[in-house]
Amino acid sequence: MSPAPVVVLVGPMGVGKSTVGQLLAERLGVGYRDTDDDIVAEQGRTIAEIFVDEGEAAFRAIEKQAVRRALGEHDGILALGGGAILDEDTRAALAGLRVVYLSMDVEEAVKRTGLNAARPLLAVNPRKQWRELMEARRHLYEGIATAVVTTDGRTPEEVTQVALDAL
Ligand code: S3P
Repeated sequence: MSPAPVVVLVGPMGVGKSTVGQLLAERLGVGYRDTDDDIVAEQGRTIAEIFVDEGEAAFRAIEKQAVRRALGEHDGILALGGGAILDEDTRAALAGLRVVYLSMDVEEAVKRTGLNAARPLLAVNPRKQWRELMEARRHLYEGIATAVVTTDGRTPEEVTQVALDAL
């Protein structure tokens, strides 16, 4: 049987998936992997460059393959890019795994990320973008999560502890 991640972390951009993911990995003594990093390494360009060069649909196709590969190879903590769960097959592939949804409210998201050229979806009018993103995605995150951990007002260490307690 191929390995499966101990925990998959999902949630919006800037919610702290990488920071919390690395803390969780340390606490559990396992490895950490992030599908955004895999994509950048494999493609030799940044996520923003892929969006500019080829558009979002092409990025999503690349992302889908990266997630599929990581799910089959990695047996530690796996963080997915914020939009990976838009893909139906990806959501189906997460069934049966421990999936922690790190959540935050819109105002917290705007405060943490602001205008962000490195995050193509937030390059203009971040508050409006965030409202639309959260509206479209919240139920998808909730639908696949085995645990929901709110990050509002919590440090990464606190979030990590709550996530560990929820496992
Ligand atoms: C995206 C989230 C980003 C990255 C890309 C698109 C999204 O990942 O994959 O910019 O659609 O929410 P992070 O959640 O790791 O920032």
